[in-house]
Amino acid sequence: MSEETIPRSAPPGRDGAARRGPVTRVELPGGAGRAWLVTRHHEVRVVTGDPRFSREAVVGRQAALLAPHAVPARGTVVLLDPPGHTRLRRPVAAAFTARGVERVRHRARELLDELVGAMLRQGPPADLTAAVLSPFPIAVGCELMGVPAADRHAMHTWTQLALSRAHGAGAGARARHEMAACFSDLIGLRRDGAGQDAASLLGAAVGRGEMTPEEAVGLAVLLQTGGEAVTDSGRQLLRVLLTRPDLAERLRSEPESRPRAVDELLRWIPHRAAAGPPRIALEDVRIGGARIRAGDAVHVSYPAANRDPDVFPDPDTIDFSRSPNPHLAFGSGPHRCPGDRLARMEAELLVGVLLDRVPGLRPAVPLEDVPFGAGAPVPGPQALPVTW
Ligand code: HEM
Repeated sequence: MSEETIPRSAPPGRDGAARRGPVTRVELPGGAGRAWLVTRHHEVRVVTGDPRFSREAVVGRQAALLAPHAVPARGTVVLLDPPGHTRLRRPVAAAFTARGVERVRHRARELLDELVGAMLRQGPPADLTAAVLSPFPIAVGCELMGVPAADRHAMHTWTQLALSRAHGAGAGARARHEMAACFSDLIGLRRDGAGQDAASLLGAAVGRGEMTPEEAVGLAVLLQTGGEAVTDSGRQLLRVLLTRPDLAERLRSEPESRPRAVDELLRWIPHRAAAGPPRIALEDVRIGGARIRAGDAVHVSYPAANRDPDVFPDPDTIDFSRSPNPHLAFGSGPHRCPGDRLARMEAELLVGVLLDRVPGLRPAVPLEDVPFGAGAPVPGPQALPVTW
């Protein structure tokens, strides 16, 4: 089995890891050690769904982390196995069901209309990221979490500081701390309430003794900041539509095709959110022809699995009529993204509102010239300069 270094921009396409074999021994960048990389759809689903691969066992291991800066604190859902993991996710699940997401759809549409309206009033050119793609998911996140209007501006600032490395680690940590203090107050006030927003659901769970206040606050911060994944995917999704006018035109003229098209774009885009912590094998496991030993770290690549030719014929082609489309953009297994429905709803609104309200939307500069985010495990363009 060959040993390779995962390139920072590991492309999921024909020359990428998916074509080298389902389970490969790799050397991680930055001296982070060796790990297994699982790239085929079937094996990715096996690893992510099999309790012999543990997230909890990652705690305390510095080695084998593909994106150390992105590893959340101990005790959060990301680094728990069932049943502790299930205990934390269950109380808040109702906010993310189809019904929970429907609850905020109307307000999300209003918020997006306001942002696009402001961009249009300002006139071209604009950075679509700063004008719409960044503030929109944060605002919708506040709606879903139940953050009062008075705290939303601060929540916006904290979210951006917490996620950006441009202002230094200290500023990020302070922002997280202040955001946590805000959620601590909110959750504390809502222990006896019956609200449908996520902070009320967390408050009620604390009131029933199902989780500690610290666990509830940690989860609230994670859910609020999770919206960044929509900014990242929105940027990439819009970049595709801006550089492929044929696809944009089809979505303009066939609005009914948008939900399926968004799913296909989610399959095709290599999401930054996909580069999470690894799982650790708790015992020797044979998978995809490889023998993984107890203690080995195993990374799965959802973007590579999304280009598996055995599951997605002609995988590098964006095909809006692809059906079925069992993509893994939101992960699989117990850690599958809780925000999947919310993210789909936001992406559908973004595509619909931008295509319908800004018919002449096009790149303001050649998008190949726009720098990709430095240091991100799966990079994407940061600014998205547009005109109309
Ligand atoms: C297009 C947008 C999004 C994409 C592509 C995405 C993708 C993912 C992926 C691949 C995972 C990891 C699965 C694993 O660990 O194996 C994940 C986990 C997670 N996502 Fe998302 N996500 C998106 C939006 C969101 C939103 C809007 C939220 C919050 C409302 C969110 C909150 C979370 C949380 C809390 C986890 C950790 C779940 C756990 O470990 O149990 N995500 N997401």
